[in-house]
Amino acid sequence: MEADVTEGLDIDVLAWGARAKARCDALGLPPYSEVEGQLTRRFLTPAHAAALTTLSEWMAAAGMSVRRDAAANLIGRYEGETPGAKALIIGSHIDSVRNGGRYDGPLGIMLGVDVVEALHRAGRRLPFAIEVVAFGDEEGSRFPASMSCSRAIVGSLDPSALAMKDADGVSVAQALAAFGGDPDAIAAAARRPEDVLAFLEAHIEQGPVLEAEGLALGVVTAIAAQKRLMVRIEGVAGHAGTTPMALRNDPAPAAAEAMLALERICRAGADGLVGTVGRMTALPGAFNVIPGAVEFSMDIRAETSATRDAAVEAVTAEIQAIADRRGLRAEITLMQVLAESPCDPSLMGLLEESLSDLSLPARRLPSGAGHDAMVMADLCPVAMLFIRCEGGISHNPAEAVSEADCALAAQAMLHFIDKLERRERA
Ligand code: GLV
Ligand code: MN
Ligand code: MN
Repeated sequence: MEADVTEGLDIDVLAWGARAKARCDALGLPPYSEVEGQLTRRFLTPAHAAALTTLSEWMAAAGMSVRRDAAANLIGRYEGETPGAKALIIGSHIDSVRNGGRYDGPLGIMLGVDVVEALHRAGRRLPFAIEVVAFGDEEGSRFPASMSCSRAIVGSLDPSALAMKDADGVSVAQALAAFGGDPDAIAAAARRPEDVLAFLEAHIEQGPVLEAEGLALGVVTAIAAQKRLMVRIEGVAGHAGTTPMALRNDPAPAAAEAMLALERICRAGADGLVGTVGRMTALPGAFNVIPGAVEFSMDIRAETSATRDAAVEAVTAEIQAIADRRGLRAEITLMQVLAESPCDPSLMGLLEESLSDLSLPARRLPSGAGHDAMVMADLCPVAMLFIRCEGGISHNPAEAVSEADCALAAQAMLHFIDKLERRERA
């Protein structure tokens, strides 16, 4: 076991884990949520703005200079020994799904703030800067695609993404301008690879593996490939009372068949293949109207793009066949593609050593959930630390983590920084 890296630092790590968790809890209600009694904090909403205001104060108190970029990322910078040094970026997302948990995203930010505060209080400067970033759009819970904030930092945000509209017809560009961002200056948010040393994201596991094995922390090996698709099946709207069953062109039963096909194909698949219909709408949407159209989303993921794409092809063919057989028209639109993203082997090694320093087994595991780290991997080497969560439950208000595990995560991150420092000085 190595020397305690927290020795000499003016911190009580246990209290510290408790504070990171408490800060996530504090951001779990209005004004940090759009909805009373639950946490819904979507990209570019007043709840997002309120969270950034409070987080800016916490970042400043931790010794960081704070700014917002054109894409609404909040960035706190703790300068290195030399002004303008390359940065280790630590971050995660501040947005949530509708009625989500409090730790999915924010916990990784709060732990980053704590790690910087510890260094700041000890007056310790490193051969690199540390930047803590709060990405605003990891979930894609307002607009159809996700991760526009990390894409802006990487310089890979397609300008067409700014034209995407939310359910009220507001575009990303309009919402961003109203938020104080600058849609015309998105390119300025891009970071140069030579200015970034690495990216570290701590995140709750959102699955049951660590808990089942009695482990507090895990080291992520890779993040699964994803595709988001929208399906629209069109028939003929009609009167629910007067149109005999045999004479209908009803897209709703076709949609039901399509969803069963998705389930069957994914159940039979390998490589962690999963498929989800998370949103569905019958139009115009009334008890007494046969719908003229049904729209639903499909989220399909697997450990490899090849497995994911084979499933997407199979489902697409099934949906066309179902529509043809029923005399309907099906249209499938690809909304988002994310390739599988391996974590950096050398940084994974440093994280494993950091867990060993804490006498913790270094369990390696893949991530089925998407993370900004998979986008950041196009800019710099990335590492991800997973934190056990209760029952593996996430995207649910019942999401829970322990203060002790948060404290261990913070310590592991400090060990990681220590090792990175030694590597950079060597
Ligand atoms: C985000 O949590 C995702 O995996 O879609
Ligand atoms: Mn999430
Ligand atoms: Mn997340």
